[in-house]
Amino acid sequence: MKVLVLPLSSLFFLCLLPSHSAEWERKKCTQCDKHLFCDCSDQNLVQVPSIPENVQGLNLSHNQIEVLKEDDLQEYAQLKTLYLQNNRIRTIHNRTFASLANLESLDLSYNFLASLSWPWFDQLLSLKRLNLLGNLYTSLGSGFLFRQLSRLRSLRLGNRSFRSMGRSDLVGLRGLDEMVLHGSGLQSYEDGSLGSVGPIGTVTLSLYGPFHSYPALASKILRDVSNPETLLILTDVTLADERSTQPIVELKQKAVRRVIFRNVSVTDSGIVNVMRIMDRSEVSFLGVEDSQLVGHGFWTNASATHPDKMETLYIKNVAIRDFYAFSSLAFLQNVLQFPKSVSIINSNVFLMPCPTSKLLKKLEYLDFSGNLLTDLATKESFCNGEGTLQHLRSLNLSRNSLSSLALMSTLFTNLNQLTSLDLSENDFSDMPAQCAWPSSLQYLNLSTTKLRRITPCVPPSLHILDLNDNDLTEFNLNLPNLIELRISGNKFKKLPPGIFLPSLEVLLVQRNMLSMFGKSDLMDYKKLQELEAGHNKFVCSCGFVAFFQLEVGQLVRLRDGPESYQCDSPTALRGQQVGDTHLSAFECHMVVAVSVLCTLVFLFFFISGVLCYKLHAIWYLKMTWAWLKAKRKRSVNRDDIRYDAFVSYSERDSEWVEEFLVQELENAQPPFRLCLHKRDFLPGGWIADNIMNAMEKSRRTLFVLSRHFVGSEWCRYELEFSHFRLFDENNDTAVLILLEPIAKETIPKRFCKLRKFMNSRTYLEWPEDETQRPMFWHNLKMAIKADEC
Ligand SMILES: *[C@@H]1O[C@H](CO)[C@@H](O)[C@H](O)[C@H]1NC(C)=O
Ligand SMILES: *[C@@H]1O[C@H](CO)[C@@H](O)[C@H](O)[C@H]1NC(C)=O
Ligand SMILES: *[C@@H]1O[C@H](CO)[C@@H](O)[C@H](O)[C@H]1NC(C)=O
Repeated sequence: MKVLVLPLSSLFFLCLLPSHSAEWERKKCTQCDKHLFCDCSDQNLVQVPSIPENVQGLNLSHNQIEVLKEDDLQEYAQLKTLYLQNNRIRTIHNRTFASLANLESLDLSYNFLASLSWPWFDQLLSLKRLNLLGNLYTSLGSGFLFRQLSRLRSLRLGNRSFRSMGRSDLVGLRGLDEMVLHGSGLQSYEDGSLGSVGPIGTVTLSLYGPFHSYPALASKILRDVSNPETLLILTDVTLADERSTQPIVELKQKAVRRVIFRNVSVTDSGIVNVMRIMDRSEVSFLGVEDSQLVGHGFWTNASATHPDKMETLYIKNVAIRDFYAFSSLAFLQNVLQFPKSVSIINSNVFLMPCPTSKLLKKLEYLDFSGNLLTDLATKESFCNGEGTLQHLRSLNLSRNSLSSLALMSTLFTNLNQLTSLDLSENDFSDMPAQCAWPSSLQYLNLSTTKLRRITPCVPPSLHILDLNDNDLTEFNLNLPNLIELRISGNKFKKLPPGIFLPSLEVLLVQRNMLSMFGKSDLMDYKKLQELEAGHNKFVCSCGFVAFFQLEVGQLVRLRDGPESYQCDSPTALRGQQVGDTHLSAFECHMVVAVSVLCTLVFLFFFISGVLCYKLHAIWYLKMTWAWLKAKRKRSVNRDDIRYDAFVSYSERDSEWVEEFLVQELENAQPPFRLCLHKRDFLPGGWIADNIMNAMEKSRRTLFVLSRHFVGSEWCRYELEFSHFRLFDENNDTAVLILLEPIAKETIPKRFCKLRKFMNSRTYLEWPEDETQRPMFWHNLKMAIKADEC
């Protein structure tokens, strides 16, 4: 046994080896789109995978990569974008990025890089955006990290362990548009380190530690980046006492005009301190976002300040812990008289008292969207519509709890400057028959307000009207000035009539119940240029498909792209893009095709019928049937012969038959038994059956040939039948009597049988000369008797 086990186990290892080595091969990243961008994020990769060589974008974020080796990216010189954030990268070879001279965007954020090394970036001559946030490095290395990155526009750096910045750190950078610095742990900062870059478009500083523990350090940083042209965003700080607000002084001294505080926690005294510091400063734009106000509005100490340059106050997502404690801010009279624009968004505002409104003398723009305003509160805020806020041009009350559109119109009717009113995402449900809007109103947003109908409440002065996402079915308003109309997400079955909208340039009517639209619909709009009508239930008829593919592009620009237009029916085409649909000529001309087909079928049957009639097909068929029947019977009744001869003649020759033939033969000794159709046929039976029977029961068939016979159709049938018999039994049952001379050529062609007959056998000629008649009768009798043997 042991002898056997050894070779087996070695075999086992041999099998393992190749698969093991395959694991060391590079994985392939194949999720690449048509823009040459490969997305292999979040795939547990431990290594840079191989990608097609011409790829321009590669996303490897959220993987487990630890090391970037020298040749990992060497072949991909076309790369413009490379995302490596949220991996575990600790080590990068100095030449990893050496071939990426086209790289414009590099993200190494949130890895484990403990130090940064200048050779990494030395060849990245095209780099515009670099993100180094969230690693473990404590400084930017021994300097000149970015010396080759003169094209860089956006730089993000710093992390919690980032301790120091030196003056040579940013050498090489010029004219950045954006800079983000996470310096919450900064402990040392050399004067001018950030200043060397020159004015930066937007600077975001996260400086919790310095503000909290080293205000002087924070001041140095602020001094370096503050500039009238720079938008300064201060994040993650707490503004409370004088110490923590001290660095703000730099903003005033450097004449900063735009400041945003983001994720700050601020107390009443913090606010008062900042307001006093900024008294008569250059700040014209003050924003507070995602922040918390811990206070009761006791800002009386700031009432003497004059922020006379302040134009815009922008507050968004601010939680006011004790918001119920706030009352009128009337003591801020000095302050509130300045701003032209106030936004307080998503911040639980439930009321602005009328006295406060009256202080906002210069206000032109007011945005209270996403708050808790009710009809009643709005009535108070707008002082019952008496016309406070006389300069207001734009008002946004979107996403509140308003329910009366009639009330809104009376509240705003005296705002003579109001051009823009956003009432979207409220619960109006009903639109009153009439409203009184200021005649200046040009923009009205009533999207998502549960409206079921529209009435002349909509003012004719409008240029832009948004009625998206309501329950509307009909549009019959005359809006001569309307340039843009949005009615997506309703229940319209057809486009609004263009004659009512002579100025319309843009129409959005997605997600409705349109089954199609046509040239004349669009032509009715005199000025329509852009249309979004995708995601409707289109019926892909030939007319619509042809119009869509050939003409619609000449009339309007489909802003939502042809891929949004899909067929809903017929079922076979559901989900297919209208632009890619091909309908066959048959499908497209169904009515014509079916009529042509029906006509052809009808013609076929008609011609067949006529032919049948002309060619006696039915008769032939019936006769064949009778003949087959007779043939079967004959075997039984073989000896059942009742007549000596069946006489086939034309009615016109009946005189001769009755006077001569019958007399002569039936009175002969012994008499011949003759079968005459006039006398012996069963009345009521079908003629062919009778003929058949008669012939069957007769030994001979006498054909009395004359011109009349030739002219008579049914004599011909008899002839035919006899021919059948002839053919059938191959014997001579037919006897031809020629009553008058007929030149064979005068017999019509269709009697070819008769012609052949007359050729093939002799016939008896009825003599005019009476003396020869006995001879005739004799011959005839002999012919009838002939084969009695
Ligand atoms: C906000 O700032 C605090 C420090 O004041 C910080 O701990 C927190 O992570 C910040 N939040 C965000 C979302 O940045
Ligand atoms: C009104 O506010 C909403 C939500 O904040 C916003 O989406 C909308 O664009 C604003 N309307 C105008 C006219 O600015
Ligand atoms: C109308 O309001 C909605 C919701 O606030 C917004 O998304 C939309 O952009 C606004 N419409 C226009 C034309 O500005």
